[in-house]
Amino acid sequence: MKTAVLVSGRGSNLQTLVKEWKSGHMPIEIIGVGSDQPDALALEYAQSEGIPVVVFPMAGYPDRASQEEDLLSWLKECRVELLLLAGYMKILSGNFIEKANIPILNIHPSLLPAFPGMHAQRQALEYGVKYSGCTVHFVDKGLDSGPIILQGAVPVLDDDTEDSLSQRILKEEHRIYPLAVNLVASNKLAIKGHRVFIKQ
Ligand code: GRF
Repeated sequence: MKTAVLVSGRGSNLQTLVKEWKSGHMPIEIIGVGSDQPDALALEYAQSEGIPVVVFPMAGYPDRASQEEDLLSWLKECRVELLLLAGYMKILSGNFIEKANIPILNIHPSLLPAFPGMHAQRQALEYGVKYSGCTVHFVDKGLDSGPIILQGAVPVLDDDTEDSLSQRILKEEHRIYPLAVNLVASNKLAIKGHRVFIKQ
């Protein structure tokens, strides 16, 4: 499955996905990495792995719609069949999602539907939950609201800081994102309404 990854930051999830793919554990081919941030560390990593990178900086466009048009053209030109968001910090519009017409996956650092949006780990700490974690979900036009594919839970410890909790959750992210991509790429999922089932 021809796959593209969108990133905005350091790219640890990208690294995990690339490693799994290159070690032959995922039936995908990562054909490119796109970013809205020209300086994203993730882009350096992608280049070091020989993966083509492309940048769509918001500053270069009059509005979000025209940035998304370029993004769409890139996906179409490369015949991308699966789009993975790995720390991509822009919200994709309903129009983009409809026109792209391919599965789009995202990883979010909380047990959705709790704590969508920014600073999910901080939100979890401030709320006082005893467990948090991460969620891989299909992207729909809402904020972190699409059908859930997999979740991983971790305990929240009394002496946790935002950083220590984020690290614990990140380990879990690196475990479940490749698993979820595998399920999608090997056509093992059935979606009924908002529920996702793993076919036996
Ligand atoms: C992760 O915590 C992910 O859940 C969130 O953004 C962060 C990206 O981290 N969407 P990285 O760039 O993959 O290291």
